[in-house]
Amino acid sequence: MNLQPDSKPQLEDFLRRCIAERGSMSFVEFMGHCLYHPEWGYYVAPRQRIGKEGDFFTSSSVHAVFGRLLFRQVRQMAQILAAEAFTLVEQGAGEGHLALDILDAAAEQAPELYRRMTYVLVEVGSDVRRRQEQLLAPHVAAGRVRWADFEQLDGLEGVFLSNELVDAFPVHLVEQTAQGLREVYVDWRDGEFREELRAPSTARIETHLAELGVSLPVGNRAEVNLAAADWMQDVAAKLRRGFVITIDYGYPAAELYAPLRRNGTLMCYHRHQTSENPLAHVGCQDITSHVDFTTLQRSGEPGGLRPLFFGPQYRFLMGLGFVEMLMELEAREPDPNRARNLRLTLKNLIMPEAGMGETFKVLVQGKEVGAPPLHCQRTLADIRLPLG
Ligand SMILES: C[S@@+](CC[C@H](N)C(=O)[O-])C[C@H]1O[C@@H](n2cnc3c(N)ncnc32)[C@H](O)[C@@H]1O
Repeated sequence: MNLQPDSKPQLEDFLRRCIAERGSMSFVEFMGHCLYHPEWGYYVAPRQRIGKEGDFFTSSSVHAVFGRLLFRQVRQMAQILAAEAFTLVEQGAGEGHLALDILDAAAEQAPELYRRMTYVLVEVGSDVRRRQEQLLAPHVAAGRVRWADFEQLDGLEGVFLSNELVDAFPVHLVEQTAQGLREVYVDWRDGEFREELRAPSTARIETHLAELGVSLPVGNRAEVNLAAADWMQDVAAKLRRGFVITIDYGYPAAELYAPLRRNGTLMCYHRHQTSENPLAHVGCQDITSHVDFTTLQRSGEPGGLRPLFFGPQYRFLMGLGFVEMLMELEAREPDPNRARNLRLTLKNLIMPEAGMGETFKVLVQGKEVGAPPLHCQRTLADIRLPLG
């Protein structure tokens, strides 16, 4: 039985009081409180968010293969950096599955690298930190793990990794009307939260869309993730030398803001049900939007981040040896039913349509590393499969 709450009256009261005092609030602020309020925010307050008992699955919760393949890339990056100490930062590590799979792979396959690496976890959730400590206990005991606040990070030499982090940043929600661009605000009327359209809260929204060359048709809605641009600038400034790997669902701007996407991409997740209503289940549902990878790429450039790979997750994983690893795992599985289940589970990571393979993208950027050939850039033609 799932005993997790469906709403948070304290958070609702807080939002209603803010609205009563100051008038309707911009959607970006509403979403910020719903997800990050220091006491009742969805990501901050105790809750099982990921997995069967939670609200959604992620690639790293699907199978350890995801982390093991990522380790291949991380290992090559560590070789390229060839520094004495190697730092791998993961922001938004959730339950810590990815960290565990990467650290396990490092300990087994590259003990020399393992001994000089530090895995730094950056999280906002109060409860997940405890669960991460438990899950990663052997690696914590080995002195390989530490926790930090994003603001504390500086002068990094290593890899900065995130998986499904940026989609959770609060976004400005806009709608193109015949009178011009309007922003969605949230009001409290007739006993419920309701939307209201007002003039944009900041001139940055229109400047941002203009810089991307985006003009929305009348009636279209879209999200503008200014926090993602600021975040990537911060990441670039914090990295002295190394790589940034950003994995998330999203598109380049031209595709994200294509006229056919009339309602934008805002999506809520609650107990494995999706909905498009961010005003319900306040503080008890995940609210996300697809990531604009053009903005991420551009925002890193002034800080010295050069794009090295951008593509769908299935291409990234195949470059890292997904097919070969699947064949190896299957060959080691004597039970045909279990082998079939393994295949079906792993298919999720690369399936173009229903799975995580196509909508999920990977952006790899490098700073002060030149343009090294990376394993993930390996093309499909380079994959050699045994015949027969
Ligand atoms: C969708 S989960 C992904 C978890 C994990 N990366 C995985 O693959 O399973 C997003 C995680 O990011 C965390 N998070 C969200 N915003 C954050 C922020 N600004 N800084 C650090 N962590 C954040 C949330 O608490 C949550 O654990």
